[in-house]
Amino acid sequence: MQDDDKRAAALAAVAEVRDDMLVGLGTGSTAYWAIAALGERVAAGLRISVVATSEASAAQARDLAIPLLDMAEVGAVDLTIDGADEIDGRCFAIKGAGGAMTREKIVAAASRRMVVIADGSKRVERIGGVPLPVEVLPFAQAFVTAQLKALRGHSVLREKDGAPYLTDSGNLVLDVQFAAMRYPVSLARKLDALPGVIGHGLFLREVDAAYIADGGIVTTLERSRSLG
Ligand code: A5P
Repeated sequence: MQDDDKRAAALAAVAEVRDDMLVGLGTGSTAYWAIAALGERVAAGLRISVVATSEASAAQARDLAIPLLDMAEVGAVDLTIDGADEIDGRCFAIKGAGGAMTREKIVAAASRRMVVIADGSKRVERIGGVPLPVEVLPFAQAFVTAQLKALRGHSVLREKDGAPYLTDSGNLVLDVQFAAMRYPVSLARKLDALPGVIGHGLFLREVDAAYIADGGIVTTLERSRSLG
């Protein structure tokens, strides 16, 4: 059921893709469906190229013979389709449960339009219920943990198979639970200014719209212009 909703949201976003677009591929179990749908459209003749936000999504694109470019050589993207862990009515999102938030934010920031795809469980009144993933240079782990504590954030080092989890870029991830996330804009500014923080999962300016599917019904959320 949840998987059907992920797929429905993904298909709604993929309908925005046109010939000659350069498309940013997100990461995660919802983005998976978007990449699969793009693969089908490419097989049917759609002419696009893509960049990927993770090695996993790049591998999926390669398997489906979707023309893949190296983001290191791409300055601008037409449309990016990506999942989220939480999204609210302001189009504020938390991302990074899959550890790809830094690459995801770079691709989103390079995109003329960025759409989130999600099942209804991701739609929240206000973001901040899930821990915020923060990508940290290993050298700065203790320093950043202490700085986050001063911001009233409790950090847990992400692990995988009993060892520290490493991002595609070889960095650590701290999952940080804040007592309350009343001022996400100010929090993002503070995190952006912390030496050793490579990136974080607060997406406050990047998301232009969201397709959210609940019980098979897809709702569209467009960013209000007043939010900038
Ligand atoms: C990857 O790092 C994340 O930002 C994902 O986009 C996000 O966690 C959503 O993933 P799911 O679609 O698997 O829930």
